[in-house]
Amino acid sequence: MITNKNILNDANLLKKYDVYAFDYIEYPHKSFWNKNLSQDDIKSRLRKLINDQVSTMLYVHIPFCEQLCTFCICHRQITSDKSIALKYMKESLFLEIDLMKSIAKETGKSFNFKEVYFGGGSPTFLNEEEFKLLKEKLNEIVDFKNLNQFSVEIDPRRVKFDRLLFYHTQGVDKLSFGVQDFNPKVQEYINRIQPSKLIDDLLTKEVRSKFKSINFDLLVGLPGQTVETISSTINEVIRLRPDRVALAYLAYNPDYHPHQRHMMTKTLLPDFYERKELFVTAIDKLSSSDYVRTGFEHFALPHDDVSKSLSKGKAYYNSFGATTGECNSVLAIGRSSYSTIGEDLYYQNFYKQNEYQSYLENGQIPLERGWILDKDSIIRREIIKNFRTYFELDKTSINEKYNISFDDYFKKELNSLYEFYKDGLIYDEKNKIITSETGKHFASLIGSNFDSFISGERINSRIEV
Ligand SMILES: C[S@@+](CC[C@H](N)C(=O)[O-])C[C@H]1O[C@@H](n2cnc3c(N)ncnc32)[C@H](O)[C@@H]1O
Ligand code: SF4
Repeated sequence: MITNKNILNDANLLKKYDVYAFDYIEYPHKSFWNKNLSQDDIKSRLRKLINDQVSTMLYVHIPFCEQLCTFCICHRQITSDKSIALKYMKESLFLEIDLMKSIAKETGKSFNFKEVYFGGGSPTFLNEEEFKLLKEKLNEIVDFKNLNQFSVEIDPRRVKFDRLLFYHTQGVDKLSFGVQDFNPKVQEYINRIQPSKLIDDLLTKEVRSKFKSINFDLLVGLPGQTVETISSTINEVIRLRPDRVALAYLAYNPDYHPHQRHMMTKTLLPDFYERKELFVTAIDKLSSSDYVRTGFEHFALPHDDVSKSLSKGKAYYNSFGATTGECNSVLAIGRSSYSTIGEDLYYQNFYKQNEYQSYLENGQIPLERGWILDKDSIIRREIIKNFRTYFELDKTSINEKYNISFDDYFKKELNSLYEFYKDGLIYDEKNKIITSETGKHFASLIGSNFDSFISGERINSRIEV
């Protein structure tokens, strides 16, 4: 049987291709975005989104947490001052809702929100009154009766069973738990103690019956993780049976997130080989239980909507993981959050509260940075996302959809794939480029050959395989 473990037999192959590549949640990567967008570039696209009644997700960012997890790269403020949430909502977030309401008013229509997602930081930072107040305000732009999905990220250490039932009474039907790892030592190293019993006790029969979908976030590459610890963590995940699992590699960038160095005061991080060993152990276990791989780092049970959309070719990868593809436009509100509007616009809000707030006080989009994609970038984004979600690329469908001749248009890129073909990571079949089982490990790197914003060698070609 070909298992994902085959990669571990060839350390040279691993070294040759274990090269950093973006995760391609967005293309071009955020680091290329700039401030060259006008207010009207954004507002006109928002009006078009509303006029065309495009199915849209509303993301709401709550940027507060009670305690720092030392691995974390999310935008969040650590505070014990509970009054800050109400202040944030009243002095800024609600102004952004007002701004969106006024943009919709200009069109004479409303946004067609089909999904709402509260993320962070930690939405569980809000108490029940604050949650209700936020929902009441959102009622001005969201028709909650029209939603197909309402999700909330849950920090399991900060909620009791009755809070989950409260979310249900508010219409929430999907919960996403930050689990990361169940091993006590690993939890100690990352400053996040949450025994698996905590989650077991929350996921009662009643809770499970009230929510359509439960997701677990897990991380690979944390300090103290070994093949044995990750095996037990995944066994526990399989026993708890969430509908979806996000199994992300730890992003480690201590220059931007210096607190990440605190993870290593007692032990080291797994190296490139060990990370791969941990990852294959986890994906082999999930795949040999009932889980379907719904993208590079995502899994879902067969009954889950994402598994179903994957089989129909509709699944779409974005910052919410593998999604059903129903809402590829995301209007994101809150400090630091970023939106994907229609086919061609990304924009991100300010990280700093004073900038975020002062723009909103003046009725302006609080633009930190953004990007408008041209047709070439739209094609490249689709190609890269296909490698990351489906592990293959159908050249015929790209030709038909964009009216190009793939082999001519991407001559240079196809040449740059030579080593990948030679080493058996990809092969051609019926005008498709398909990644082999081993090649799947390098899906982002293969896709990165189509990224026109980066240049130079993508592999350690001096290493012989
Ligand atoms: C906003 S948090 C989840 C909600 C809540 N704050 C919690 O932690 O329970 C979103 C997810 O981002 C992921 N994350 C945070 N830092 C990361 C990193 N350095 N690399 C990869 N994923 C990371 C974690 O898996 C985390 O569950
Ligand atoms: S992982 Fe979640 S709880 Fe921990 S610091 Fe990051 S956002 Fe906050």
